[in-house]
Amino acid sequence: MCGIVGYIGRRDVAPLLLEGLQRLEYRGYDSAGIAITGRSGELRTVKAKGRVRDLEARVPKRFAGTTGIAHTRWATHGAPSDANAHPHLDAGGTVAVVHNGIIDNASELRVRLTAEGTVFGSETDTEVLAHLIARSQADTLEQRVSEALRAVEGTYGLAVLHRDFPDRIVVARNGSPVVLGIGEKEMFVASDVAALVAHTRQVVTLADGEMATLKADDFRTYTTEGSRTTATPTTVEWEAESYDMGGHDTYMHKEIAEQAEAVDRVLRGRIDDKFATVHLGGLNLDPREARSVRRIKILGCGTSYHAGQIGAQLIEELARIPADAEPASEFRYRNPVVDPDTLYVAVSQSGETYDVLAAVQELKRKGARVLGVVNVVGSAIAREADGGTYVHAGPEVCVVSTKCFTNTVVAFALLALHLGRIRDLSVADGRRIIEGLRRLPGQIDEILKAEPEIKRLALHFADAKSMLFIGRVRGYPVAREASLKLKEVSYIHAEAYPASELKHGPLALVEPAMPTVAIVPDDDLLEKNRAALEEIKARSGRILAVAHQEQEKADHTIIVPKNEDELDPILMGIPLQLFAYHTALALGRDIDKPRNLAKSVTVE
Ligand code: F6R
Repeated sequence: MCGIVGYIGRRDVAPLLLEGLQRLEYRGYDSAGIAITGRSGELRTVKAKGRVRDLEARVPKRFAGTTGIAHTRWATHGAPSDANAHPHLDAGGTVAVVHNGIIDNASELRVRLTAEGTVFGSETDTEVLAHLIARSQADTLEQRVSEALRAVEGTYGLAVLHRDFPDRIVVARNGSPVVLGIGEKEMFVASDVAALVAHTRQVVTLADGEMATLKADDFRTYTTEGSRTTATPTTVEWEAESYDMGGHDTYMHKEIAEQAEAVDRVLRGRIDDKFATVHLGGLNLDPREARSVRRIKILGCGTSYHAGQIGAQLIEELARIPADAEPASEFRYRNPVVDPDTLYVAVSQSGETYDVLAAVQELKRKGARVLGVVNVVGSAIAREADGGTYVHAGPEVCVVSTKCFTNTVVAFALLALHLGRIRDLSVADGRRIIEGLRRLPGQIDEILKAEPEIKRLALHFADAKSMLFIGRVRGYPVAREASLKLKEVSYIHAEAYPASELKHGPLALVEPAMPTVAIVPDDDLLEKNRAALEEIKARSGRILAVAHQEQEKADHTIIVPKNEDELDPILMGIPLQLFAYHTALALGRDIDKPRNLAKSVTVE
């Protein structure tokens, strides 16, 4: 959510910043801006409401400099506009700030500063930071920034330029990611490695409460109180090409297509055939502890929450530990009972989602043990958790999550198998699940081959104003995720219900104009699911089934390969990702950047 990029070195900065912003645009895309230190030390800015390409069109021909910061915004305080776009400057143009996060006491500070004569140029919370830094009389820029930060409450990842300190960029982090990119006589800063991997893979991730000063050939990190911290650069796991579209028209299509490979990666090196189990190195949970777990509570948001719902079922089925999933955003506001015998699991693609991170922090304050199931290595949730497992989906750039959902569910299957084999799961069942897991990549490829047929079905249903998604038990979270995918990328209203609940209300909606997508696995609930199809057909509803065999009552059936019953949900959602994709394409939607959404929701 919102993207920051900054550079100090010897190269012409504007093209570098624009390129970085393009790579970060998925984090926010309603306005963008750049500030550079000009040839004689003056700060120059250019901003535009809209996309990075709108900003690019406005960058003057002569906009030379070798130090600069830039931002792509997803509005929180103040509507998208040129004035509200970052960077924000004080009235005298001495300080420029780009900021991700939210300053909670911005209104209070604004009232105070206005009373003291400060004139504000935007409606944003960020602007108070520029004024506070500009007013500080401290000796160094570092001291001025930390003085300003002591006055604000809230979250930030920020980068600051100052006219009187043209040899540096000062950055700070509290709750919003900041990564330094260490180059040869040049330094980068970004909210996400995506913006800098094309130039350097040596990075330092700042911790909350940390600041850094970047100069062209040097950097140092310290706390907001000024004590030095140690920062050893690590190498980014992914090549710059992993962030490119790789010949696809959209990131969503690329990421759907990559799923077999991604699943292969999450399985690699983890299966232990001898003991019919899996090894998850980072769990930090010894067998005795694992045996003493009485409950598992999974917390996540959006798609990750849905992956957690399937994860909870896998844990109950394979490890026989009572488990459930809850939206992290709800959990942390209901003063939950934190039980010492419960193991908490936080799920997040980005590892930065504020609601999940805040839930983890609250749980830890109350003494709970929290594991992370996270995609982005070294992210805040991964660092905050007591242990966990990475899902190794690779960089996910499309705002809409696809491959990471699938890999997260597979990671949960691994966790469930691991816990199951420490508890009651038999060797035979362990082997059966392992064989099922091994079949997944091939089966995913098989599903993806049906894309032309799925596209045809998407075109057929694209005129629907609303769609119902139904499933039972294992199929229900699949239906929920498929419904979310359709609505967020195509803007067609979609609602998911347990098939068993149809006659308790939603059946009233069924008519020819309200198609139903039904998840119909070939498991012990097959006949019950078929009964639901009968009920819909009897009311002239149109049905698209996702099933392991042709469904007589359905108008159309997408057939997916059968796996073990427990693992079927991993496969059944994949054709519906393509269904959502082609529906959105047919409706001319901006697939990688759906309206009003942004990836990595780092604010409440
Ligand atoms: C939907 C989607 C969102 C995210 C949610 C949590 O396609 O991507 O619902 O799943 O915002 O994000 P992470 O997983 O990064 O915590």
